[in-house]
Amino acid sequence: MTIDDNDDLAGLQRAGRAVAEARDAMLAAVGPGVTTGQLDAIGREVLARHGADPAPPTVGFPAATCVSLNDEAAHGIPSMFRRLRAGDLVNVDVSARLDGYWADTGASAPVGEVTPIARRLLEATRLANTDAVGAARAGQPLRSIGRAVQRRARRHGFSVVANLCGHGTGGNLWEPPSVPGVEDPDDPTVLWEGLVLAVEPFLATGATHAFEADDGWTLTTPGHLSAQYEHTIVVTTGTPLVLTAS
Ligand code: CO
Ligand code: CO
Repeated sequence: MTIDDNDDLAGLQRAGRAVAEARDAMLAAVGPGVTTGQLDAIGREVLARHGADPAPPTVGFPAATCVSLNDEAAHGIPSMFRRLRAGDLVNVDVSARLDGYWADTGASAPVGEVTPIARRLLEATRLANTDAVGAARAGQPLRSIGRAVQRRARRHGFSVVANLCGHGTGGNLWEPPSVPGVEDPDDPTVLWEGLVLAVEPFLATGATHAFEADDGWTLTTPGHLSAQYEHTIVVTTGTPLVLTAS
């Protein structure tokens, strides 16, 4: 959506705060022995406290949040039978609607001690998100976001998972425009003031494509670790407003 007035901004800020707090509470609970279902329960509880409705159940997903491990890039299904182990990479993704406004956020984190390459992947992906947010500016081409992500990935020796994209959001969870993590030189879209975007680069240790698993939800990068950081932002003529900051 494009923000019309201060009511829109205030509504989006409330939705952004709800998903950011849920994300942070889930991340704070990450540790060996914790189940992905327990993380989901924590996220669900925080959203409920804010009066926010989790988005995933609205599309038939069997949990309130997504929790993805290691070679799972996105849409992992939380389970009370799946325990985190030291060395895992975990990603939590929280999206919700509050008073008609939608927000979407995600982050990846280490479980205990992880390998040096996993640590570097997390850092590169976090920086890719920062770069992507920084490239989102009214009057600039949308493709400059993908260019920033690609440049960061290349610099750290990682790949971009090209078929997983950010998106417009705010009035619905997913809205146009699509926000690819790679530059499409033919995309003529120019960003405009007030546009609400979910910026979410996915980096991996070599994979450029994610595949749907047999459960019909989980998107995986077989044989490769993947990570994601996501913020919902409002495009301005200067630095974007980040609605899902900690
Ligand atoms: Co998300
Ligand atoms: Co998203």
